[in-house]
Amino acid sequence: MKMQFSQLAEELGGSTNPLYTLRDKLQDQGETIVDLVRGSVNEHGIVFPPDTLRDIFAEAMEPARRYRPDSFGQPVAREAIASFYADLNFSAEQILLTPGTSLSFLYCFKLLAEVGDEIICPRPSYPLFDYIARICGVDLTHYRLLESSQWSIDLDHLNDQISTRTRAIVLISPHNPTGMVADDEQLAGVAEIAQRYNLPIIADEVFSEFLFGIDRLPRPAATEAPLVFTLNGFSKMFALPGMKLGWLAVSGDAALVRKSLQALEMIADTFLPVNEIVQFSVPGIFARGRAFQQSYVAWIGQCHKEAMAGLANLEFSLDLGLDFNRPRGGFYITVPSLADEDEAAMALLGGHRILTHPGYYYDIEPDHLVMTIVNDPQTLAESFRIIAQATKDD
Ligand SMILES: Cc1ncc(COP(=O)(O)O)c(C=O)c1O
Repeated sequence: MKMQFSQLAEELGGSTNPLYTLRDKLQDQGETIVDLVRGSVNEHGIVFPPDTLRDIFAEAMEPARRYRPDSFGQPVAREAIASFYADLNFSAEQILLTPGTSLSFLYCFKLLAEVGDEIICPRPSYPLFDYIARICGVDLTHYRLLESSQWSIDLDHLNDQISTRTRAIVLISPHNPTGMVADDEQLAGVAEIAQRYNLPIIADEVFSEFLFGIDRLPRPAATEAPLVFTLNGFSKMFALPGMKLGWLAVSGDAALVRKSLQALEMIADTFLPVNEIVQFSVPGIFARGRAFQQSYVAWIGQCHKEAMAGLANLEFSLDLGLDFNRPRGGFYITVPSLADEDEAAMALLGGHRILTHPGYYYDIEPDHLVMTIVNDPQTLAESFRIIAQATKDD
C-alpha cells in the first residue's frame, strides 16, 4: 500500500516558476541579478552593529544560564516591548513573545478559528497567509484594497464579505506589497465593522518604522475595536530576522483580552517561546540599537527616494487612467503595467538582469509589477527607470 501524505504535501513540488528558472540559469552563467524581490537589507550592508550585539548577548548569557522559562516570554523582554508602545499604555502582561510574526499569525489563527472557519485578509496581499491558513485548515476570504484611492481599504467590500464563519479581520499597515498605510479614518471604519460583527483585528505592523511622509503610524490598537492583536518583531525593525524574535500584544475589552491570553498561554507553553539568550537581549536591543535603527530608517528613506526618482516617468500612465501609487511605508511597491506582466517581468530579467514579480502572484489584476525598494541606492534610480520603461506597451 502506498504511503499516505496530507493533501498539502501532495500539492507541493509542482511546476517550476519560469522566472526563477531563468534567474537560476543566468546566475549559473555568472550573471549578477538585481534582485528586487527579496527585500533583505542585510544583503546591502545594513546589519546590526556586531560589537553592540556581542555586548548585549554577553550580558544576556548571565540570566539565560539558569533556565526559568515563562510561557509568555521573560518579563524583562515583555516590559521593554510594552514601553515601545509608549502612547498605547500596554502592560507586560498583554505581550506574548513568539518566534517571529509568521508564528504570531499561526497562534492567532489557532486561537480564533476552527477548521473551515474564515479569516478575512486584504487583497492584494503577499502569500504568507495562504500557507499559514493551509497549515491551520482555515479558509481565507478577502476584502479589496482600492488602487484608485491609494490602495485604501474598501470598507463596504469588507463589510459585505463578512460571513457567519468569519472569525477575524487581518489588517496589514504598512502594507506589503502596495506600500499602503491605513490612516486614522480608515482604521476607525475597520474598527466599526469589527464592533458590528464582534470580530477581532489581527494587525500586522512589521513595517511600522518605515514611513514616507507620515510622522506617526495609526494603530488599530488605538481604536474602539473590541479585540486587537498587534504583531511585530525584530525581523524588520532591527534588521535581525535571524533572531526569530516576534511578539503579539493583546488589547481591547478586558474580558476578551483575558480569555485570549489564557488560551495563548497554552499554545505558547506547548512550544515555549524563544531562545532565552535572545529574550534577555530584548531590552538591550531596543536601548542600544536606536542609533543603528535611525541610520537604517534613513537608508530605507533614501531607497524610497531613488526608486521614486526612477519611476518619475511612469507618470505617463496617469493619462491612460492607470494609477501609480507612491508607497507610504514598508519595503514594497506595486506599479501598473501596460505591457503584459509576465512578458514585462521576463524581459526585465532576461534583458536587464532585474528580478521583479508579476502582479498576479499577489492577486492583483490586471497587469502590474511588484518589487521591493530595498537595494543599493546608488543604482536604484536606474533600475526603476528601466522598470518604468518595461511597463510601457511597445
Ligand atoms: C507584511 C509582513 N508580515 C510578516 C512578515 C514576516 O515577519 P517575520 O520575519 O517576523 O516572520 C513579513 C515578511 O516579509 C511581511 O512582509
